[in-house]
Amino acid sequence: MVDIAENGRTWLLSGPTSSYALHLSEAHELLHLHWGPRIALADAEALARSPLPAYRPFESPLDGREEYPVEGGPRFVRPALCVRTDERRGTEWRFVSYELGAGTEGGTDGAELRLRFDDDGLAITLHYRMRGDVVERRVTLENGGRGRVELLRADAATWTLPDRDGWQLSQLHGRWAAESLLTRAPLTHGEKVIGSRRGHTGHQHLPWVALDTDATEERGEVYGCALGWSGSWRIAVAQLPDARVQITGGAGHDDSGLLLLGPGESYTTPVFAGLWSDGGFGGASRTWHAYQRAHVIPDAERDRPVLFNSWEATFFDISEEQQAALARRAAGIGVELFVVDDGWFGARTSDRAGLGDWTPNPDRFPHGLKPLADQVRGLGMRFGIWVEPEMVNPDSDLYRAHPDWVQYQPGRRRTELRNQLVLNLAREDVQEYLWERLDTLLSGAPIDYVKWDFNRCFTDAGWPGEPYPQRLWVDHVRALYALLDRLRAAHPRVAFESCSGGGGRIDLGVLSRTDQVWTSDNTDPLDRLAIQHGFSQIHPARVMAAWVTDSPNTQLNGRASSLRFRFVSAMAGVLGVGGDLTEWTEEELAEAREWVALYKEIRPLVQRGELYRLRPPTGGLSAVQYVLGAETVVLACLRTQSYGEPVPRVRLRGLDPTASYECRETGEVHRGAVLLHHGLPTGLRGDLDAAVLRLCRI
Ligand code: GLA
Repeated sequence: MVDIAENGRTWLLSGPTSSYALHLSEAHELLHLHWGPRIALADAEALARSPLPAYRPFESPLDGREEYPVEGGPRFVRPALCVRTDERRGTEWRFVSYELGAGTEGGTDGAELRLRFDDDGLAITLHYRMRGDVVERRVTLENGGRGRVELLRADAATWTLPDRDGWQLSQLHGRWAAESLLTRAPLTHGEKVIGSRRGHTGHQHLPWVALDTDATEERGEVYGCALGWSGSWRIAVAQLPDARVQITGGAGHDDSGLLLLGPGESYTTPVFAGLWSDGGFGGASRTWHAYQRAHVIPDAERDRPVLFNSWEATFFDISEEQQAALARRAAGIGVELFVVDDGWFGARTSDRAGLGDWTPNPDRFPHGLKPLADQVRGLGMRFGIWVEPEMVNPDSDLYRAHPDWVQYQPGRRRTELRNQLVLNLAREDVQEYLWERLDTLLSGAPIDYVKWDFNRCFTDAGWPGEPYPQRLWVDHVRALYALLDRLRAAHPRVAFESCSGGGGRIDLGVLSRTDQVWTSDNTDPLDRLAIQHGFSQIHPARVMAAWVTDSPNTQLNGRASSLRFRFVSAMAGVLGVGGDLTEWTEEELAEAREWVALYKEIRPLVQRGELYRLRPPTGGLSAVQYVLGAETVVLACLRTQSYGEPVPRVRLRGLDPTASYECRETGEVHRGAVLLHHGLPTGLRGDLDAAVLRLCRI
């Protein structure tokens, strides 16, 4: 809900457990008052009466206190907004008005608060919306003047944390095949900057940070911020001299120019969402998950099917008959969606050719995709395909016809990565071409699913002939979003997966228009535990695709693991199978069928339940638990066991302490909190063992 002081200058947004308050001073400064436990409007008004520190020659009374620090005036923190006109730089705004949008059920729940400012014709609107305990923020800039306004930098929000000693910064870092790895380290004075200079979200950092001073998995205060943008981005976390912390973030990796707004043009930043939780890292994650399921992910109430993906089974060497053989095996183990990965189109027999030519390869699919799709449908499964629309191989009909459709700098080498170039999606003709090709494809065969890949970074982001070429960094992403939105509207039955060489494009922006993401190209079930642990800090299992592939792991590390371990690891997300099923024995297929059946039983809990990370993947035993209503399930993975020690005891969470729970695997009845212990349920032993434990309140 939103409370507003009578004088119309103090605003208080509150969720179930937290509040966020801000205040407009007489001098038109927008000051941050509070972010933390719930407070009343009277408390916010009392905070608003505390005067700012006095001006002194070497200190700014505003630094660390403003909601959205602009460039100019007595400010020395990193500005969220840098603007240049033909005459000058900087911003000096005046408050114009505020308005409150419509909330739910006639109240102010979920209502958007908009604060309007003006700087000589540039209209600046700050948007705030409380969803659960997540504050969504963004900014709109509209050039209402006669001249041009260059946005050198326009962050989505700046977050201010209270002055405390000993701030710790958590982040998710990585690289290809090792995404979403969690680290936590003391925040020292100065700035810590993370981001992507690559044109996509990147494998190197998820656009998320968390800050705490003494939180654990189960208790303590945690602040978290996550950006919804799938292009280059930057989040700067500053430890200010007075022990306050400011976090500012938005699209673009530097301040050298984002967009040029002509008269009447506007730019709306992505959403930068933030939350405060006093439930430790686990509580913060559950709040993030609930928020995304309720407000970000399309159709999140619908569970995702078990899929088969052909990539690791057949790589580029595919044919209709061979895919049909795989499909028959997949259907036999209970798969619900069959996805043909790379290699079905153009002259795509390796990664050297074909990207851009989105018509079925006539040698491999002489009658198009429909015959295979019909066979797959006939087996009771849905049918999906892989595409990489933003790319082109120089060896393609598209590139031969339109060599100027790619990003390039005139007179310079066009850098090829994986033998491909990036199409300039900011161009309208490229947008129309892709719309026409993809719309035709989705109309021509019964396709239910599209895995949308992006397999290289921007390197030569030029646009010859365009007066302001650097706009392509932002406009590429806006065009991608518009294309996805248009395809979703025209083909509502089609689900989309965001992939970028694994987890290179995972953020709240892409998640608001895709149904799941490909977490990592690393399908080794042990490595996956750490990747999934990091991923789960922010995103729910409902979008986290995980496949069971062959053992030893051919794609990456050659490690052998049991089918049991591979399944239990992958069942913590949206289960898929990606091995060469034509090589699996009858026994393996029979075992796989049982695991898939078990997954379907626990799927509502995994995909819609509350997650409790019982033990991190760093120790011998790792375990996650999902709770939905009266049911709970634990997925336990034993990495190593030494000295014959018993598996450590683990207390289950999120259960009714007064109720009794019956374990499906052992038949035992437990009262109150349940301990997972040695021998339960099937005796975890040796290395890389795993088990599933289901309990139901009786
Ligand atoms: C990327 C994806 C893989 C696969 C290949 C196909 O690397 O992450 O899953 O689709 O492309 O070329």
